[in-house]
Amino acid sequence: MYSDDSFSRIDESDDSLFYATDRFVQHIDSLALSTAERIIGELVIEDNPVILDLMAGWDSHIPSTIVAQRVVGLGLNPRELSKNSVLTEHCIHDLNKDPCLPFPDNTFDAVLNVVSVDYMTRPVEVFREVGRILKPGGLFLVIFSNRMFEQKAVKIWRQSGEEERAWLVEEFFRRAGIFSSPQVFVSKGKPRPRDDKYAHLGIPSDPIYALYAEKTGGGRSKRPKRLHDSALPDLPDPQELEKRKDAVKGTLQCPYCSEKLRKWEVPQTPFTQWDIEFMFLCFNDHCPYLVRGWDVMYRQGNTGLSYRFAYNPDRDQCMSVPVPNLHALKDGIVE
Ligand SMILES: C[S@@+](CC[C@H](N)C(=O)[O-])C[C@H]1O[C@@H](n2cnc3c(N)ncnc32)[C@H](O)[C@@H]1O
Repeated sequence: MYSDDSFSRIDESDDSLFYATDRFVQHIDSLALSTAERIIGELVIEDNPVILDLMAGWDSHIPSTIVAQRVVGLGLNPRELSKNSVLTEHCIHDLNKDPCLPFPDNTFDAVLNVVSVDYMTRPVEVFREVGRILKPGGLFLVIFSNRMFEQKAVKIWRQSGEEERAWLVEEFFRRAGIFSSPQVFVSKGKPRPRDDKYAHLGIPSDPIYALYAEKTGGGRSKRPKRLHDSALPDLPDPQELEKRKDAVKGTLQCPYCSEKLRKWEVPQTPFTQWDIEFMFLCFNDHCPYLVRGWDVMYRQGNTGLSYRFAYNPDRDQCMSVPVPNLHALKDGIVE
């Protein structure tokens, strides 16, 4: 899986130099952050847990429902760590210089690593150390998205697609040799919050990938095996969907979300010669067909695209029209 330079970086200077700059920003949008927070809340099930936030900044994304005994932050920026209100203590420690964690064996109930695994140059050693300092049955939760400081992310991460990154993290868990088989949770494709600074681009919310496993030796796990993505709209069941598709001619409703279809003027360009003047499209940005479409297209190698449901009245045909963002095609709405 790895070549000699897989964990090299564009910027190989001392990490403490790069992280000496304070970054009191959120690295992902607010919807993605709330998903991360919810996952942490669902997976940290211990009463008064002892938690380590590994590669911490000024926000640990720990929900207020968790009343921790101790929350330790390990990172590189002292000002960010001292402003982090949930931390009871913090330490400055460069994992890439020394992957040994400065804590005794069997100390923590949970170790969290949020949007930072891409910066580890010796991940398997770090994962093994996390295993050492967790109590048996303790949780290691790694959450990542698709944004990064390019110059500090390792080469194999930069060169991998999102799914390959999930496999990579799974592999770190496996190679550490001290965890149960990791579970994977993915949340992506939802419309970006309206007040987000990139909302005008019409791109979906930042994806959230969460991989988690327990240190072996803890007996039967009480943590949820599967996390439900409560914000992901459900698809109708297949029989119902077929019935609704057959009825579109009469209802002019999207069979996936039941929203009224909008009459849409088909663009006539030298590149798309459509034999029809109007179609009916679903412009609901929360439609499950569109929301799930980002991931379906991504898996087919079409990064950055989804599709909207379309109905061709001349042929009485249900189809889809690809879109690169949520604004696309809206110019053509005529009714
Ligand atoms: C993108 S920020 C994420 C911060 C925080 N986990 C969050 O969710 O907002 C990356 C963090 O990793 C930490 N970090 C980067 N390289 C590190 C290293 N070599 N050793 C320890 N921490 C490191 C930095 O201090 C920084 O806070």
